[in-house]
Formats: sequence, structure tokens, C-alpha cells
Amino acid sequence: MTITAIATAAYIVASLLFILSLAGLSKHESSKSGLTYGITGMGIALVATIALVLKKVFDLDSLDLKWLPVVLMTGAIIVGALIGFWRARIVEMTGMPELIALLHSFVGLAAVLIGWNGALEGFDTTGVNPGDVRSLTNIHEAEIAIGIFIGAVTLTGSIVANRKLSGKMKSAPLMLPGKNFINVGSLVLFVVLTAVYVARDTHHDTASLILLGVITALALFLGWHLVASIGGGDMPVVISMLNSYSGWAAAASGFLLSNDLLIVTGALVGSSGAYLSYIMCKAMNRSFISVIAGGFGIEAGPAEDKDYGEHREVNAEQVAELLTGAKSVVITPGYGMAVAQAQYGVAELTSELRKRGVDVRFGIHPVAGRLPGHMNVLLAEAKVPYDIVLEMDEINDDLADTDVVLVIGANDTVNPAASEDPSSPIAGMPVLTVWEAENVIVFKRSMAAGYAGVQNPLFFRDNSAMLFGDAKDRVQDILSALR
Ligand code: TAP
Repeated sequence: MTITAIATAAYIVASLLFILSLAGLSKHESSKSGLTYGITGMGIALVATIALVLKKVFDLDSLDLKWLPVVLMTGAIIVGALIGFWRARIVEMTGMPELIALLHSFVGLAAVLIGWNGALEGFDTTGVNPGDVRSLTNIHEAEIAIGIFIGAVTLTGSIVANRKLSGKMKSAPLMLPGKNFINVGSLVLFVVLTAVYVARDTHHDTASLILLGVITALALFLGWHLVASIGGGDMPVVISMLNSYSGWAAAASGFLLSNDLLIVTGALVGSSGAYLSYIMCKAMNRSFISVIAGGFGIEAGPAEDKDYGEHREVNAEQVAELLTGAKSVVITPGYGMAVAQAQYGVAELTSELRKRGVDVRFGIHPVAGRLPGHMNVLLAEAKVPYDIVLEMDEINDDLADTDVVLVIGANDTVNPAASEDPSSPIAGMPVLTVWEAENVIVFKRSMAAGYAGVQNPLFFRDNSAMLFGDAKDRVQDILSALR
């Protein structure tokens, strides 16, 4: 059997393992085996690809060993693996979405480089029927333009997402005048430029390369503008949307390189990312088309200068007292619990209260934190029993009969403006209706806004009180007061 045949078989096995991996990752119980399938598939794919490259560069008949490509490939693998290993080891859970966005940008960059390489190398016509050369060359050129376009949009879009998530760029949506026209216009211009590029007789002259350069620049601009136009509240959807784009970029590269595994894997990532974005849009009551089109149709809301009145402050001892007298307590954690690493203290507080006969449950908003399932992972890590951790839809109806709600480092996900103020940037997003409870205690360090950058009227309600400070310290203070 030749190396090519073995590699093809290995690619099929790897594709199947990737499908099994996705199926496994969709359920909590099977997620570990899903990961194992994915890692095994990627291992097999890497070995098969390396074997194919080696076969290409080592001409065994003439024993003409070309070391340079091997050295370059080995160097790239070692450097990439070391950086990947280092970043993954030091990343905090709260920094995961930024890291994922950065990784997507690499896929985009790779697709752009592969596209340009394809353009500079030209189409290999050996063995092609002379009558088919023209149409096959056209297909090749279209693949180049499309691959570069999707790759470049993914590249700059992911860099903007990374910067917004890490707070290096403000999370409010960029509102350039005529932003919808810019997006649609860029898309139309891309189609026209691609048609001209493909229709040209020669593809290696300066004019063609300039045309490709313009397509690249246009796509880089569009990627930046699309994501910059999306507000902080819609960021979770953007991440899964960029995940989808990176899949399509990889699939486009697969066509260019005639690599079936890349096509299959790219399509799997592309379609699963698109489906995840759709599910998240539904959970957040957002229009899917509007979000993927860079906030299409969303215009700037009025500037926020509402006066909500005074807020009330409490201390840990007062909260401990309130909790001692409560029959039912609901804890709604958010990003701040992750930042403070307060989950262990929260788990201790939960068991302390349960020992005293208080009914304690958790209400988890679908986008609480910075990545899907963030809160569930933290609470599981701190060994909070699964059966008291409920989804938003499961707990919302019970909040009106709850004595005390502890909002621990959550903000946007408990903002009444989402359901009561149609002019709010987060209007229509489902939220935990914590304000219906008898008492609400909000743990945070200041009166600052949450991720979406909007003020939260909950803090000024009569039944709300603020417990300022780091969530972990305040939870410890309450525990000390209780004991
Ligand atoms: P946020 O609205 O971001 O609010 C977190 C709150 O925690 C802030 O108001 C902050 O107030 C407080 N905080 C930060 N550090 C703290 C600490 N050490 N101790 C105590 N409090 C602390 O969080 P959320 O309610 O979880 O909402 C999530 C938001 O992130 C949504 O807008 C969502 O769309 C977005 N988002 C979600 C995802 C996914 S998939 N879940 C991904 C990206 C973005 P202070 O600064 O005053 O302390």
C-alpha cells in the first residue's frame, strides 16, 4: 500500500473521530470521551499529513533529500506546540473566549496565506485534459478569492473580538454612518472584484495580484467593521459565529490544497458553529441575521443619562442575619464570581445554609460569565450538587416566592431594563427576574456597568441592597458572621 493510500484511509478515520467528538461534546456525561476522540483524530491527521509532506520532499529514487522543508516544518510544529501548550496552561477560565478568538484569527491568517500561495504558485495543469484547463483554472481562481476573503474576514474579526473581550477596546458597538450600506456594499464589491479576477486571461501579472490585494484589504476591513459594530451583549454569539467562519475558511483552504480532511473538518466546524450561533441567538432573543451581519438594522439607542435615584448599601453581618431568617435563597452567579474565584466560598455558604434548613438553589443564565456553561463548570469544580443548579427558565417562575436572592458578580443577566425598557441596548434579552424576590443582595465592587455597558436599574430598587467588595472576601465575611 502506498503512503498516499494509507494517508487517505487515515483521513477518513480522523473525520469519523471528529464527528464522534462533536457528538460526545454535546452532552455533559460524554464530553470527556468526546475530547479523547477529538485529540486522537487530530493526532492521526497530523501524522498522516506529515507523512504526505515527507513523501513529497524525499525523492527516494534519487536519494535527493531536501532537508530545508523538513527543518522548516519541524521548526513550525515545535514553536506552535510550545506556544499553544504555554498559553493553554496559563489561561484563566475567564480568559478562555479571548484565547479562542485569537486561535480563530490564526485559522483566518492561514487561509489568507494559503490563498496567496495558491495564486503565486498557479494552477498545476499536469494531466488535465486541454479542453478543461480554462474552466478548472477559473474554479481554482474562485477558490483563491473566496478562501482569502473568508480568511481575512475571520482574521480581523477575531482580532477585534479578542481586543473587545480583553477590554483593550471598548465593548460598545461602533456606529459608523451608513454601517449597513458599508457591509452590504463591501460584499457586493467583493463579488464584482472576484468575477473580474476570475474572468481575466492571465493570473500572474501585476494587475491580477493588485486585484487580489484589493480583495484582501476589503475583507480585512469588513472583518474589522462587522465585529466592531456588534455590542458587548452580543459578543457570545460573535465568538461562535467567528468559530463558524474559521471553519469555512479552513474548508476553502481544503479545496485549494485538495485536502479532503480539511474540507470535512472545516465543514463540520463551519456548520456546528453556525448552528450554535443560531441557538444562542434564540436564547438571547436576537435576530440571527442581524448579528451575523454586524448588527444589521440596529441603530444607536439614546445616550444613557437616566437618574435612577439612590442605592442602598449593606454589610456582611446584615446579609448573614437576613440569610439566617430566610426559608428560600436563590444564588445567581455571573462573571464577577469567576473573576473573584468565589465559587469555593459560595459552595461553603450553600452547604452551611442547607445545614440550617434553608432551601438554597442556583439560577444560571445561558450567557452568564464569558463562555457557554462557564458558571456550571465553576460550580461543579466547587462540588455544588447538580440538582440544585437550575437553568434560568426553570427558576424564573419561583423567584417571586423567594426570600433572598444573592446576585454574585452578575449584572447584565439580571437587568430589568432588558424586559422593561424597549430603548435599552439589551432590550428583549431574557433575564433572571431577580427583582421579583423579597430581598436582593448584589455583590460587586462598585456601581460600574456590566459587560454590555448599560446601567442596571435593579441596584436602585427598594428591595435591593449593594454589598460592595470582592465577592470572595464578602462571601468569607458572611460565613464568618454566620459561624
Ligand atoms: P457582567 O454583566 O459582565 O457583570 C459582571 C459584574 O461582576 C460586573 O458588574 C462587575 O462589577 C462584577 N465583578 C467583577 N469582578 C468582581 C469581583 N472580583 N467581585 C465582585 N464583583 C465583581 O456579567 P454577567 O451578568 O455574568 O453577564 C455576562 C455578560 O457577558 C453578558 O452581557 C453576556 O452577553 C456577556 N458575554 C457572555 C459570554 C457567554 S457565552 N457567556 C461571552 C462573552 C460575553 P464591578 O466591576 O463593580 O465589581
